[in-house]
Amino acid sequence: MVGKLSGRTRLWLKAVRAEYWLARKLLPKVYSNDALICFNSYAFVDDPDFQRAYQRGARALGDEDWYQWQWRVHVGLWAAAGASRLEGDFVECGVSHGFLSSAIMEYLDWDRLGKTFYLLDTFAGLDPRFISESERESGALVKSEELVRNGMYVDGVDSVRANFAEWSNHRIVVGAVPETLGQVESESIAYLHIDMNCAPPEVAALRYFWPKLTPGAFVLLDDYANRGRDEQRVAMDEVARDLDVSICALPTGQGLLLKPAV
Ligand SMILES: C[S@@+](CC[C@H](N)C(=O)[O-])C[C@H]1O[C@@H](n2cnc3c(N)ncnc32)[C@H](O)[C@@H]1O
Repeated sequence: MVGKLSGRTRLWLKAVRAEYWLARKLLPKVYSNDALICFNSYAFVDDPDFQRAYQRGARALGDEDWYQWQWRVHVGLWAAAGASRLEGDFVECGVSHGFLSSAIMEYLDWDRLGKTFYLLDTFAGLDPRFISESERESGALVKSEELVRNGMYVDGVDSVRANFAEWSNHRIVVGAVPETLGQVESESIAYLHIDMNCAPPEVAALRYFWPKLTPGAFVLLDDYANRGRDEQRVAMDEVARDLDVSICALPTGQGLLLKPAV
């Protein structure tokens, strides 16, 4: 598969990675990647099943793993494995090249489960109609356009269809959340991953799917505890309060929410 990033972006990523490399040199044995420096064990990276899944996820990016988000993927695989034992389908809102969902499908030997994986994205970056005023003012649209241009967000759905072609039980839904939510035909959802990097469609997705979530269902919010994404966190906390649940902030930057069984 050919590379998907512009040359300038590759250089910038090399510079960012140098900081993590330096931390690993200075503090041997720490986990240092993806905005996380941690002294605890990350033995999960040695698990051959994890490695196989991670490598499949990375293949969605092209010729190079420029995400380097092992711990985030570990959390996603854990949630997906739990959800695979429940009744219901899987949904991801914000797919881009398809890293996390490909890793999950590989990990779970997806077609064996008899579930459908719904994959929703504009496949063209943020939709200006569905961002907040303050996101607009802080330059979210300009940033999104830049991310599409430099290859960090996918530009078009064709490469995504090719990436997921090895699995039958999935549906790619092209268009903007919340407009496309009704195209998810399932009435029972066991796993929901929300990763659109802007608050309004994320809030809409959580509110829409909440009544359809199976008791015990796993909801993973990719940006909930990321520094600089306060608007998403505050908005999600408001939804959680209405639903009488709370969200666990993870050191990976993710948020984790379980649909109560009773
Ligand atoms: C950070 S990327 C998702 C990364 C992905 N989860 C992965 O595993 O690599 C965010 C994606 O959200 C999409 N997005 C943003 N706003 C959206 C909206 N209103 N509806 C659908 N997709 C949206 C963008 O097009 C972009 O591809």
